[in-house]
Amino acid sequence: MSAFTQLLSPDSTLALNDGNRIPVLGFGVFQVREGSECENAVRAALEAGYRHIDTAHIYGNEASVGKAVAASGVPREKIFITTKTPPDQSPQGLRKGLENSLRLLRADYVDLYLIHWPLSDVTLAPAWEMLQQFRAEGKCRSIGVSNITVQRFEKALLPHTSVIPAVNQIEVHVFCRRRELVDYCAGKGIVVEAYSPLARAQRMGDPTLARIAGECGVTPAQVMIRLVLQHGIVALPKSSHPSRIKENCAVFGFSLSDAQMAALDALDEEYYSLTWRPQGYY
Ligand SMILES: NC(=O)c1ccc[n+]([C@@H]2O[C@H](COP(=O)([O-])OP(=O)(O)OC[C@H]3O[C@@H](n4cnc5c(N)ncnc54)[C@H](OP(=O)(O)O)[C@@H]3O)[C@@H](O)[C@H]2O)c1
Repeated sequence: MSAFTQLLSPDSTLALNDGNRIPVLGFGVFQVREGSECENAVRAALEAGYRHIDTAHIYGNEASVGKAVAASGVPREKIFITTKTPPDQSPQGLRKGLENSLRLLRADYVDLYLIHWPLSDVTLAPAWEMLQQFRAEGKCRSIGVSNITVQRFEKALLPHTSVIPAVNQIEVHVFCRRRELVDYCAGKGIVVEAYSPLARAQRMGDPTLARIAGECGVTPAQVMIRLVLQHGIVALPKSSHPSRIKENCAVFGFSLSDAQMAALDALDEEYYSLTWRPQGYY
């Protein structure tokens, strides 16, 4: 077991390539309804100990995130907030999108701003230039990408910039480990963030997960999150239910052995739980 695994705690962070740090566990709010559902979920997450919230322009719930954060009593600088670009990735669209996000989030800056998905090979590099400008203006502390494959990095982004994204947020879970892309990102100093780390609850009944959960005295969801963390990847589980929100962050009181990790890694079968993906994602 690595030293990183032994030291994993609720306060654990990973170093980003720009000198900032990111909490290893974040709370995702995709499909958490704007209004009381999202406000209650974010409040429950902050009470449970999460200090990292992952939202996006298109989730339509940034105002609720902002309201819940403001009401929480937790100082803004103690919470790592990520949001993402709007579908209009023209320079004007991006600027308008970020300004709107900051207003809704009641924030002067976000900790991480991501290109949510590449619109095309041609628009990716200019959009990336804009994010660098936003960072220089202090509107975001770190900048990164999401849903970017090795091919896109190689063809449409890295030949056009000297600024390497701090993160790449992609679908990763026990049934979809994305090893080639994860290894590529590691080699470039890009932290990987796992979205849908629970495979959107589609395969919670898997017998290997159940066996290992039983051995560890935890739930299958906790095993799935812990696996991601032990691979040095940020995990962003979502739930709308306070009990599960709490369960999903109680992943620091046990660890997976090398044998358990190997058994879980054998479940990798490129199973994508999210049916939406940008053009050219494979
Ligand atoms: N960048 C991107 O393109 C992108 C794409 C997708 C997601 N994301 C980010 O990643 C986050 C997580 O991904 P996700 O929402 O797709 O899926 P997920 O976190 O893998 O799974 C969420 C599903 O699991 C259920 N669940 C949560 N905890 C559970 C538990 N302990 N036991 C059983 N079921 C449980 C939830 O139901 P309940 O809510 O009813 O508990 C929900 O149906 C998102 O919220 C978003 O922030 C980013």
